[in-house]
Amino acid sequence: MKAVILAGGTGTRLLPLTRILNKHLLPVGRLPMISYSLEKLKEAGITDILIVTSKEAAGMFAEFLGSGREFGVLLTYRIQEDAGGIAQALELAESFVGGERKFIVLLGDNLFEEPLAGHLAAFEKQPEGAMVLLKRVPDPHRYGVPVFGPDGRIERIEEKPPQPQTDFCVTGIYLFDETVFRLIARQEPSKRGELEITDVNNAYASAGLLAHRTMEGWLIDAGTFESLQEASARMMEGAP
Ligand code: DAU
Repeated sequence: MKAVILAGGTGTRLLPLTRILNKHLLPVGRLPMISYSLEKLKEAGITDILIVTSKEAAGMFAEFLGSGREFGVLLTYRIQEDAGGIAQALELAESFVGGERKFIVLLGDNLFEEPLAGHLAAFEKQPEGAMVLLKRVPDPHRYGVPVFGPDGRIERIEEKPPQPQTDFCVTGIYLFDETVFRLIARQEPSKRGELEITDVNNAYASAGLLAHRTMEGWLIDAGTFESLQEASARMMEGAP
């Protein structure tokens, strides 16, 4: 399976740090943030990886990661010209994904403990559609939040709802089949002018094609100062 890491965006919640450095290159423990996504994919046996980032940051990614050889992976890069949303960044992966039926997407600011292998194996068995990974969190209003139907499946996802209906969040780990690109092409920008990943997942949900699994280990969306600090502390714990 191939993987896509989305590492564009503006990182406004981390200004002024992100005025000069892309969020995913900020230090977390002893490494730039992007290193952990690569480690998790490699641990799951995925080495063919696309990184989508901004034109300002691309040179620095290439300088740090190069072809990926030193890290034991093969990297491809794509440029997102303007930060027009997660789904817009994902759309740029279409030619990279090519003939593959299924692939995984990581938001580069999601750092997590659990190995991906079990989730990937479950998705391989799923005949079609998409899968999201959920995690119980104390602050679901910061995330996409699933609303479950009577059969326990996700009926829809609400993006950053002021009054979340559950304490689950949709993590930034998505498994898609190749139809995702057709669904993105049909999306309209949201009120904030972005192509939203939640709208794409909702298109799968309304077709009855959105599966989910739950993550038990810790997961941190390192997009704020507090969570970045927490992520650093976590990553230093196991460091030699
Ligand atoms: O962390 C999980 C959450 O991520 C989900 O629960 C939400 O449903 C989802 O919308 C997203 O919310 P965030 O507010 O955390 O998204 P953020 O704008 O921080 O972007 C997340 C990642 O996607 C970040 O690592 C950079 C990348 N990105 C984002 C945008 C807007 C891009 O590559 N290009 C973009 O244009």
